[in-house]
Amino acid sequence: MARRRRNRKPIDLTPKEIQIESMAHDGRGVGRDEDGKVVFVDYALPGERVMFVPVQNRKKFQFGTATEILDASEHRVEPKCAVFGECGGCVLQHLDERVQIQYKQEQLLENFKKIGGVQPEALLEPLVGDHWGYRRRARLGAKFVPKKGGMIVGFRERNSSFIQPTTQCEVLYPQVSALLPSLRATLEQLSCNDKVPQIEITVADNAVVMIVRHLEDFTPADLELLKTFGRQSNLVLFLQPGNLQSVHALYPNNPNPLFYHFQEFDIRVEFLPTDFIQVNGSINERLVSQAVGLLDLTPQDRVLDLFCGVGNFTLPLARTARHVVGVEGDQALVKRANHNLRINDIENTEFHYGDLFKEDMSSSSHGDWLEQKFDKILLDPPRSGAAEMISRLPQFEASKVVYVSCGPATLARDAGVMVNEHGYRLTQLGVIDMFPHTAHVESIAVFEK
Ligand SMILES: C[S@@+](CC[C@H](N)C(=O)[O-])C[C@H]1O[C@@H](n2cnc3c(N)ncnc32)[C@H](O)[C@@H]1O
Repeated sequence: MARRRRNRKPIDLTPKEIQIESMAHDGRGVGRDEDGKVVFVDYALPGERVMFVPVQNRKKFQFGTATEILDASEHRVEPKCAVFGECGGCVLQHLDERVQIQYKQEQLLENFKKIGGVQPEALLEPLVGDHWGYRRRARLGAKFVPKKGGMIVGFRERNSSFIQPTTQCEVLYPQVSALLPSLRATLEQLSCNDKVPQIEITVADNAVVMIVRHLEDFTPADLELLKTFGRQSNLVLFLQPGNLQSVHALYPNNPNPLFYHFQEFDIRVEFLPTDFIQVNGSINERLVSQAVGLLDLTPQDRVLDLFCGVGNFTLPLARTARHVVGVEGDQALVKRANHNLRINDIENTEFHYGDLFKEDMSSSSHGDWLEQKFDKILLDPPRSGAAEMISRLPQFEASKVVYVSCGPATLARDAGVMVNEHGYRLTQLGVIDMFPHTAHVESIAVFEK
């Protein structure tokens, strides 16, 4: 059946004045127009009076962009990056970095109140670090666009799938940002420069790594060009002609294992450039230290680390606890985690593969950890949270649970279940400045019985 075409009313683009009352979870300012309709305004801060033009009109709300700041917030600052506003990487550079984390804390508490129906007994001091040059991981888009002068490399544009040409990035590690112009120039010279859609960057303690995704085979001349770029820029280069399994080293052809080191725990974490590692290396080191401290471990403790990746928390936990079990849903990461046990001479820990989103785990090959008891539990799930594991958490009879989260809404939901259904107390809650200038909120919650 043919769909009836809706006659959309054209948007009235006349700039309008609005008072911004709060900040939305994506960093937009929120106000109400003269009809009381909610408006989400890009680049407007709470407390400001701005002129905005509507960009999208929906039934119950609209989106707009600030065109003039009539009454600026005392916290407004000059964005550091030349492409702020166009690049989709950062959305909060116009807000004082010390205040960004306060908004994130308010947002977290609001989520806890509205979604979880719980409030913490105490707030942890926000964990803050360097606000610039902190990103050790990034995925850049690439596209050959002759009309725009050739090869473009950068993050996606704000609110679009186009790539914002980026020659300098203030949040990437400086040595990576400095490579962007020569990366662009090298990609442009490739014979199939229109078939290289993505570059993934990782900075390990011992190397800067780039994975070049390509949709067509490189010629011998292309490979030489890339190797020269790798050699001159002191890079480790990998190629990705297909899926993740196709990733292989180009230069040097047998690179040293990548690693980061935790000085406090004397732990070396090795990983492959395709593995998950936390974006902000120095905050990660402090977060792990904080999480281990909050668990208040004793040498008698049996600890469960859910969503453990390559063992980022598990290995430091193993230094104090009697026994640690790490569970992870990516087989490749479980393999790396086991390798990390060996290189760190850890013998009191085991890793298991398990899909922790499965509601019925009894029939799957999960190992017998599901039937065991644990004194302490650490969880660090993806943004969607850990609803399935939270529902079965009481069976482990843990007295303390530390939950690290990159999704404030799902953490709040899961916290509601922990407190209102499982009888835990939410004793501490804190925000972590893992991603300054973006709207992402990392946080940590402590539950006790
Ligand atoms: C936020 S990362 C944390 C990893 C690790 N704790 C760290 O700090 O590096 C979330 C982890 O959950 C894993 N994961 C995602 N979905 C999963 C699932 N359904 N079952 C088990 N693990 C899953 C991911 O592979 C990833 O390693």
